[in-house]
Amino acid sequence: MKHFLDIAEISRESLIELLDMTANMAEINRRPVPKVPALRGKVVATVFFEDSTRTRISFDTAAKRLSADVMGFAASASSINKGESIRDTIETLEAIGVDAFVIRHKTGGVPATVTKWSDASIINAGDGANQHPTQALLDSYTIREHFGGQDLTGLRISIVGDVRHSRVARSDIQAFTKLGAAVTIVGPSTLLPSDMTGWPVEVCNEFDSVIGESDVIYMLRLQRERMNSAFVPSLDEYAQRFGLDKSRAKRMRAGSIVMHPGPMNRGVEMCVDPAEIPNSLILRQVTNGVSARMAVLFKLLGAGGIPEDEG
Ligand code: CP
Repeated sequence: MKHFLDIAEISRESLIELLDMTANMAEINRRPVPKVPALRGKVVATVFFEDSTRTRISFDTAAKRLSADVMGFAASASSINKGESIRDTIETLEAIGVDAFVIRHKTGGVPATVTKWSDASIINAGDGANQHPTQALLDSYTIREHFGGQDLTGLRISIVGDVRHSRVARSDIQAFTKLGAAVTIVGPSTLLPSDMTGWPVEVCNEFDSVIGESDVIYMLRLQRERMNSAFVPSLDEYAQRFGLDKSRAKRMRAGSIVMHPGPMNRGVEMCVDPAEIPNSLILRQVTNGVSARMAVLFKLLGAGGIPEDEG
């Protein structure tokens, strides 16, 4: 495996191997000194052309915990503002010395295109509405960690909201179904993709009809920055039909969980404070993001077995 671009390219066996490796990395992260020398001498460049909190910071943390050097790049403070192209930017950073580029861009396909310009490993940190594969890995790991087992067989996962603009939904659906879960996507027709040919999901337009039958309620952010027209009549109407509020949270199946990739729109899709519901794993997802990204970096850049404790 040289690149990590798209869950569609990853077999079920490789996905399970990455989940197992994420568990090993989580064990490292529980140590008093959560650092191993596995990637000493390697350089990881985090190249973000679009804003991020969780993904960028957790990749940065993951690389440092594996003892790699991190080269941070923010487009907003770079020569992109003077007209430099993405290709020239990548080639310039690679001339300094990079083993892996972690790339986020608002346009789908940019990380895959960069593989043609660079000899380094390329990791997709989110490209437009296309893919967010490390989010799918950390989400799958979080669900498996909670319910146990090797994969997600037997679980019913409802993904609720703006599926149309969501790269998280596309990657999660591929990962969850490869791992054996049954997936229902829930939202108004305007926020579902116009063509879902071949999508291995059930579709539902009523949140209330899936609430009591789901093991996982996965809330999606209403992505207003990707909308070029009004997809919902009003935010209030959307919140009433598709927001997770206290009443809906109380009607969830016993033992079920709530997830959200973040950032949340409070009062839109999240109408209850996650801290007030005992079954929210939203911050657990963030914690697990570091372990999942360590697993991906180690898989692409590491040699040999699972890293030993530095002490
Ligand atoms: N989930 C996610 O990608 O969050 P950020 O945009 O903060 O990285």
